[in-house]
Amino acid sequence: MPRLSIWAVRLSLLHLLAGFTIGAFILVNKGIGAYPAAWRWFGAHQEFLLFGWMGQFSLAVAYWAFPRYRGNHRGNPTLAVAAVVLLNLGVLLVFAATFWGWPVMLWGRAAEAAAAACFAVYAWPRVKPTGA
Ligand code: HEM
Repeated sequence: MPRLSIWAVRLSLLHLLAGFTIGAFILVNKGIGAYPAAWRWFGAHQEFLLFGWMGQFSLAVAYWAFPRYRGNHRGNPTLAVAAVVLLNLGVLLVFAATFWGWPVMLWGRAAEAAAAACFAVYAWPRVKPTGA
């Protein structure tokens, strides 16, 4: 497994842990109603699990498994690295928006959109028949 995939999978597992923990927190509150403000963390729950965990895990495996170029290499990894950095930054900013409000949310969403664009541009030429 290439180093970028290793780091992205590890980071995705941290997001999984954060998302599950927040989900459990909301669920316990739903059951006993002890801390209604837990719902404030609902956006963070979805963000960590949908983008931080599932999105990042897919990206990591795609970088690893998509067909390689002749010479058995994965091309210039700069845009793929940028995608991983921007995705993590974006999810953390959207999480921070739980406390700091919508301007931080907008920066987070912009970073996530940039991450998607970087990875799409990187991966596009690797979407091809194996060996082509
Ligand atoms: C990969 C795993 C998970 C993903 C992608 C995920 C994602 C989501 C999403 C998208 C929603 C919004 C659903 C809606 O509005 O209809 C949601 C709701 C919720 N999730 Fe998760 N979740 C996951 C795992 C968990 C876990 C493990 C827990 C608890 C330990 C949890 C607790 C909750 C709670 C309490 C809600 C609110 C349900 C309600 O509206 O009453 N989630 N989750």
